[in-house]
Amino acid sequence: MAVFHGNFSPAFRYNLFCFQTSWVFLNVRGLQKSIFTAIRVYDTTASLNKTKMEKKIVIAGGTGFIGKYLAEKFKTLGYQVIIISRNRAHIQWDDKDRIESALNCAEMLINLAGKSVNCRYNQKNKDEILSSRIITTKILGDAILNCENPPALWINSSTATIYRHAMDEPMTEKEGEIGTGFSVDVATNWEKAFFDFQLPKTRQIALRMAIILGKGGGVMKPFVNLVRFGLGGKQGSGKQMFSWLHVEDLFNIILFLQQEKELSGVFNCSAPNPVDNATLMKSLRKIMKVSIGLPSPEWMLKMGAVLIGTETELILKSRWVLPDKLENAGYQFKFPTINEALEDILG
Ligand SMILES: NC(=O)c1ccc[n+]([C@@H]2O[C@H](COP(=O)([O-])OP(=O)(O)OC[C@H]3O[C@@H](n4cnc5c(N)ncnc54)[C@H](OP(=O)(O)O)[C@@H]3O)[C@@H](O)[C@H]2O)c1
Repeated sequence: MAVFHGNFSPAFRYNLFCFQTSWVFLNVRGLQKSIFTAIRVYDTTASLNKTKMEKKIVIAGGTGFIGKYLAEKFKTLGYQVIIISRNRAHIQWDDKDRIESALNCAEMLINLAGKSVNCRYNQKNKDEILSSRIITTKILGDAILNCENPPALWINSSTATIYRHAMDEPMTEKEGEIGTGFSVDVATNWEKAFFDFQLPKTRQIALRMAIILGKGGGVMKPFVNLVRFGLGGKQGSGKQMFSWLHVEDLFNIILFLQQEKELSGVFNCSAPNPVDNATLMKSLRKIMKVSIGLPSPEWMLKMGAVLIGTETELILKSRWVLPDKLENAGYQFKFPTINEALEDILG
């Protein structure tokens, strides 16, 4: 703006000068105000976007059987689902910045990452089964510690295999006995790596999952094939217990645990009615309408396991687990019996 002086008395000129200076000042103030207003508008919009973004969950190891199912379910509830994986299509494990920003303001982290146990337990596989679980859990815990707004809940996968081979009585969270051997060591070290983190703003829950049953994944495929080819009789003695859970109940349990904010620690994640192996195979044959079911004695299973590159422990270990803590907390199972679960999956 040009400063106008003209031919006036010094006093008038002085007043004019003061007026013009104030006008400039006021304009600058106005400009400042406009800038502040713009910043405030931008800030509010960013906060609104942030609020929208907050409805997100992170699933580590979310590309597998359970992860894919959960991701789809959470998407239908309107969540943004972010996956951490070894796969380039997702956030990768060595990208600490992106892991942190994914976890920042997320409602929940679910960690399912780990090399499949469906392989021969040679030293190389054993090392990878263990390290893939411990390293990923540590990466996630460290990332949460660096978050300004960490997730309110971190659910880490564990396994019902942590309990001993139980033929005599079921294992509960309170009274169950931890077993021995490689798979148990993996589970105990996995839980330790998880609970070693002290996270003041994040509730931690380890799910000791039984065998998860669902369409087109996990153990259903091999079971269905055995039954289809007439080999769906009892496996081994048939007396070993089979604890299981429908994958939809797993999803519902996660929602339940999210809502029940006072719950934390370890949870047996299994249906309330485990069956023995002979009953499981009989139910499968009935639902698939296959009358012949040749049994597989232990020696045959051992030979078969070597041929197909797996371990008999997955079939012969007696996993007898009850979901005491979930039931006491009031969780209602949608599929409490094996027949209801198999009807839904195969019927
Ligand atoms: N299914 C069951 O019945 C059951 C029962 C009890 C416990 N669990 C546990 O629950 C978790 C999920 O089970 P799931 O059946 O969904 O397993 P899955 O299909 O094998 O998926 C596991 C995920 O872990 C990731 N992963 C595999 N190898 C890895 C490695 N070396 N390093 C880092 N990540 C690796 C994979 O993701 P990327 O390939 O994308 O990296 C994969 O998506 C597993 O940890 C399993 O032990 C499962």
